[in-house]
Amino acid sequence: MGFQRTHYCGELRADHVGQKVVVCGWVHRRRDHGGVIFIDLRDRAGLVQVVFDPEKVPAEIFSEAERLRNEYVIQVYGTVRHRLPGMANPNLQTGAIEIYADELKVLNSAKTPPFAIDSRDDVDEALRLKYRYLDLRRPEMHSTLELRHRTTKIIRDFLDSRGFWEIETPMLTRSTPEGARDFLVPSRVHPGEFYALPQSPQLFKQLLMMGGVDRYFQMARCFRDEDLRADRQPEFTQLDMEMAFVDREDVLNLIEDMMAFVFREIVGEEIKLPLRRMSYADAMARYGSDKPDTRFGLEIQDVSMIVKDTGFRVFSETVQNGGAVRGINVEGAGEKFARREIDELGELAVTYGSKGLLWLIVTDTGGRGGITKFFSDEELARLVSYMEAQPGDLLIFVADKPETCAEVLGRLRLFLGEKLNLIDEDLWDMLWVVDWPLFEYSEMEGRFMAAHHPFTAPLAEDLHLLSKDPQKVRAQAYDLVLNGTELGGGSIRIHRREIQEEMFAALGLTPAEAKERFGFFLDAFDYGTPPHGGIAFGFDRWIMLLAKKESIRDVMAFPKTASAQDLMTGAPSAAIGEQLRDLHVRLTPEAEKRLQDVALSQEVR
Ligand code: AMO
Ligand code: AMP
Repeated sequence: MGFQRTHYCGELRADHVGQKVVVCGWVHRRRDHGGVIFIDLRDRAGLVQVVFDPEKVPAEIFSEAERLRNEYVIQVYGTVRHRLPGMANPNLQTGAIEIYADELKVLNSAKTPPFAIDSRDDVDEALRLKYRYLDLRRPEMHSTLELRHRTTKIIRDFLDSRGFWEIETPMLTRSTPEGARDFLVPSRVHPGEFYALPQSPQLFKQLLMMGGVDRYFQMARCFRDEDLRADRQPEFTQLDMEMAFVDREDVLNLIEDMMAFVFREIVGEEIKLPLRRMSYADAMARYGSDKPDTRFGLEIQDVSMIVKDTGFRVFSETVQNGGAVRGINVEGAGEKFARREIDELGELAVTYGSKGLLWLIVTDTGGRGGITKFFSDEELARLVSYMEAQPGDLLIFVADKPETCAEVLGRLRLFLGEKLNLIDEDLWDMLWVVDWPLFEYSEMEGRFMAAHHPFTAPLAEDLHLLSKDPQKVRAQAYDLVLNGTELGGGSIRIHRREIQEEMFAALGLTPAEAKERFGFFLDAFDYGTPPHGGIAFGFDRWIMLLAKKESIRDVMAFPKTASAQDLMTGAPSAAIGEQLRDLHVRLTPEAEKRLQDVALSQEVR
């Protein structure tokens, strides 16, 4: 017979007036009005009002309607009618109509939920994650999940039309370095050996190019054991792509077309092509960030050459010792900010890693406050004119190593952009950051690390520097930045064995180590590898921005907390003894002790 549902609750409109309908869903609210019972019935499409009239329905159905409570699951048979004059609700899509019920089936009852479904802001996120299935019932979550589904589909349609094949790659594999820790899975069959969950499908997608697939994509699950933030999860989804016989232009053009298509279809927005390109060096110098938010100004300026001979020793000595002096003209803030607010900037600068923040306020006669007194009138005039400052502007400076200046001013810039309300939230500001360095030096590891990953090709003209002066080598890498968030990154890859070997050597791997970890991959280079390149997007971040959410947790059905726990299932959890024995794994005494403590604290509770 089937369930007989005819419509989703939230779909019904004035057009349906007069029709007999069957709807199913959850009781969102029940109101009794002068003997008539009103139910707001909810399903994934929205709410509809259902009316039980004692004049119309049999007494036993009416008394069942009286017993309905929030979140009961019911099925209603009835007729759509206009609401009575003056009773329409313009805030509800179904607000012009209601269902005049003839029959009710209670499919399930429900306990009082730990939080009301439509109250979000005052509910602790931990509680929402513990009862995620209730949290998912919120219309806002449904619309985000639908947006995510639609975007995936649009991407699949686009890539299919451009000749891409969607291919799955293994989850149980060897380590693919993307700069995070691996999640390991012990092997039962091979005692003492482990699979790694992929940090990305990087090696496999390159191997697919070696396998002649030509164009690949995947909505790929990636796993990274790293410190989590609002835009990072231990498992997340990439739109992962790779193409053979392409150079950088080919990849960037295709991605631009895809972006324009997705934004047109999903948010009805025209993205202007070609996208802007900014070199990494420029992004760091002007915005102090490799993912510059260019929706507002407040650009960083380098005044080292202007102040290097002034009498102000913090400035002149810093420049003489190879450092830099950089600043921002915070327009108008000299008048707007109280002294306390300037001091607050200084405190922030210290938490961002600076020794402090130097400042002055521009006036008609020169300057006042802060470091004004250290300059002669001419020195001050030169600085003010170089920074194109007007009376009433606040100039802030950091004197330090160039990287520290960039980091501190970059973060202050973002803080000021928000504080001064300079960010137009309606903009979709997209740009490429290109010409990355191939390596970055890690103070912690005391060696060079790949800035992207070790398979990224150097710019041809920098190739000769690979062994001599790695710091100077630029990469054929690109990142796509949207509204100050890194949406995705990729590169043209190395496709010749000797360059890949040189790269591993520059990263400090001995030939034996390179062979042990990547031998299968290096061997593949010997059998005819086409030039290739690709990119991967953080798909969760992408949806987060499209949906205008603050956290990627809000666009994943079942996310983990900042401490990588799933509060609903209780993962991670202790394994039972036999499982560990089968896997040839033994816990350390510290781990055993911790598990006992946890068990105890749960008993107490
Ligand atoms: P990359 O490491 O830059 O490149 O990752 C690509 C994109 O994935 C997103 N991302 C994350 N999203 C959520 N949680 C995380 N923990 C997380 N880590 C990364 C970011 C990032 O831009 N294989 C290369 C791509 C390539 O070269 O083709 C790679 O994985 O949005
Ligand atoms: P000091 O003379 O070291 O006590 O510094 C006076 C103030 O100048 C401190 O409170 C800092 O805020 C600031 N300051 C000192 N050195 C630097 C620097 N290199 N860059 C920015 N601000 C600094």
